[in-house]
Amino acid sequence: MVRTKTASLITILAVAVCAAVPLVARSQNAPETETRSLYERLGGLAPISVVVSDFIDAMVPDSILNRNPAIDKARKLVPAPYLKYHVTAMVCQATGGPCQYTGRGMKESHAHLNISEVDWDRMVEILKGVLAKHSVPEKETSELMAIVESTKADIVKPK
Ligand code: HEM
Repeated sequence: MVRTKTASLITILAVAVCAAVPLVARSQNAPETETRSLYERLGGLAPISVVVSDFIDAMVPDSILNRNPAIDKARKLVPAPYLKYHVTAMVCQATGGPCQYTGRGMKESHAHLNISEVDWDRMVEILKGVLAKHSVPEKETSELMAIVESTKADIVKPK
């Protein structure tokens, strides 16, 4: 009787161990099972805020963007730290982080800037340069660029 109980306990333990091993092995060997948010994969709020800060610092004095008089005027009026704050909160929220964006909508905040396709392409070029400078991997870069791209219709002025 005792032997039977021991034997079945060993069987239960063996089954449990065998079932657990493949689970561990799967999570270690298969990156396609990645469930972390883009926010987590980017490293969270600190690295995101650094990338956004560099991005705004590159955008504000850019001579190609500032050929657009409305952009040039706005960059002299709107404090860069204000833009950094809002864009960081927006990226944090949009990538699955714990922030809440409290700024204006993209249509409302960009309508007066007459942003053209050329302006947009320049912004994309600057952003990609900043992401590359910070060694953001290809997968995370393209996911972030897709989020940015989703705002284009509200930001670029229709011809
Ligand atoms: C060519 C592209 C862009 C240019 C030249 C640009 C420029 C600007 C400027 C000058 C402002 C301040 C406007 C004002 O208050 O008078 C602004 C605001 C803002 N922009 Fe952009 N922007 C561009 C694209 C984007 C994109 C792609 C995003 C995010 C995905 C973004 C996010 C914001 C946010 C969050 C604000 C603050 C909104 C608020 O005041 O509540 N911008 N942008």
